[in-house]
Amino acid sequence: MIKNICCIGAGYVGGPTMAVIAYKCPEIQVTVVDKNISRINAWNTKNFSNLPIYEPGLDEIVKRCRGKNLHFSEDLEENIKKADMIFISVNTPTKKYGIGAGKASDLKYVESCARQVANYATGHTIVIEKSTLPVRTAEAIKAILESSRNHIRQKGDSITFDVLSNPEFLAEGSAINDLINPERVLIGGEDEESINKLCNIYSRWVSKDKILKTNIWSSELAKLTANAFLAQRISSINSIGAICEATGADIREVAKAIGSDSRIGSKFLDAGPGFGGSCFKKDILNLVYLAEYFGLPEVAAFWNSVVSVNNWHQHRISRIITRKLFGSLSNKKIVILGFAFKANTNDTRESAAINISKDLLNERAFLHIHDPKVDPNQIAIELDMPQNDKDDSKVLSEEGCWYFVNDIYEAAKEADAILVTTEWELYSSLDWRKISKVMRKPSWVFDSRSILNSKEVKASGLNFWRIGDGYE
Ligand code: UDX
Ligand code: UDX
Repeated sequence: MIKNICCIGAGYVGGPTMAVIAYKCPEIQVTVVDKNISRINAWNTKNFSNLPIYEPGLDEIVKRCRGKNLHFSEDLEENIKKADMIFISVNTPTKKYGIGAGKASDLKYVESCARQVANYATGHTIVIEKSTLPVRTAEAIKAILESSRNHIRQKGDSITFDVLSNPEFLAEGSAINDLINPERVLIGGEDEESINKLCNIYSRWVSKDKILKTNIWSSELAKLTANAFLAQRISSINSIGAICEATGADIREVAKAIGSDSRIGSKFLDAGPGFGGSCFKKDILNLVYLAEYFGLPEVAAFWNSVVSVNNWHQHRISRIITRKLFGSLSNKKIVILGFAFKANTNDTRESAAINISKDLLNERAFLHIHDPKVDPNQIAIELDMPQNDKDDSKVLSEEGCWYFVNDIYEAAKEADAILVTTEWELYSSLDWRKISKVMRKPSWVFDSRSILNSKEVKASGLNFWRIGDGYE
């Protein structure tokens, strides 16, 4: 029986996943540890609307379980010692140096977790890879754990480990729903008993036919492949969107027509500003690296093209905006609606808004950025530029700059253009007549998410462009 679970990494994956396990398994004590003390403090905040991660429904679950069987702690040693099961949920960024730089995953955090587990674990511990990892990482984790076991054995203690892969398929913004109603749970491993113990946890709320058991390498590769396939659909639809714009076709009509073929399916066919998020790009580059490593350059080139089309597409949008605004953005005010990489999250990692905003700033635009959940300090980090603190008159000069805004109608005053980058619901119900009255003419609305009512926008006297629409 599993009584104590420890999860290393209180991030977007570790936090919500452990909250749901605690919620569904009241008899199990679940502790999430993190080396980032301010993150742990934020998880322990008195005000539940200030949790470090915004996910619909997360605050309710944390409120119910925290202090009962869900804990957030900085004490790694103590929590590893008492755990029967340890989830490794630390980040695995793309390596920036040495062999595999720019593509391979940097496994330094995973490795250091394995070493800490090896140092402090007692009795039998099941170690679970929750982070997305390159194929055969479990081998490295096992090697680290085994070597310490041999070392400890010499001291006469009985300490044993088993490693399982249990990748997480949740999508941000719908994490709680995805965790409570998963389409499948994947468990890769060799030891039947350990697999069953993990299976027994999920089976409290997931039907057994949805729990897939595979060998450990298939499980690791399946996670990378799932993300690569999803991202590939987005690059595919965005590339066709560009053809639509050139030919008079409409990407929404094309997507509907192809999506009703059950072999293709209708999901992940929304043309947009290009995929963002912490996973897609990183995981595909990881796959590219693996293919190159195993001597498969054609496979590597195929998957690499998914990332390069995405990159091209984001810059394509900023080029369109610049062109429509007469080829120069100097002294022009552009309102950016949304900085998160998708709606219902405060996560900005790899958000399309970053590349697009940087391009516009390079053209010396004066950006007014709005997002209902993203902290302006986070935007400053992503843009590598502090928020402007000068008054407008000084700003309208040599360089691009940006302001964070809370009031969209106020921001629209004298603006030359408005660009929708994130599909937050509030943007689809704006009063375009009111906005049009205060914008500088000729004024443009660019809808890269297809969430606006084009008739309404145009009827209020604004020029309108939307992604993949050759009619416009
Ligand atoms: C996710 C997934 O877990 C992973 O599969 C994917 O590859 C990358 O992103 P996520 O939860 O989104 O991770 O990452 P993040 O929000 O950055 O959280 C990771 C946490 O691990 C951070 O809070 C960090 O402080 C913590 N960490 C990292 C440790 O506690 N110890 C370490 O050694 C390294
Ligand atoms: C993704 C996977 O969906 C999830 O299974 C995995 O565990 C982690 O990576 P996430 O990155 O959180 O989840 O969000 P997702 O909904 O997949 O969106 C990724 C990006 O693609 C976003 O920028 C989104 O706006 C974009 N997207 C998605 C589109 O542009 N069009 C679509 O049709 C769908």
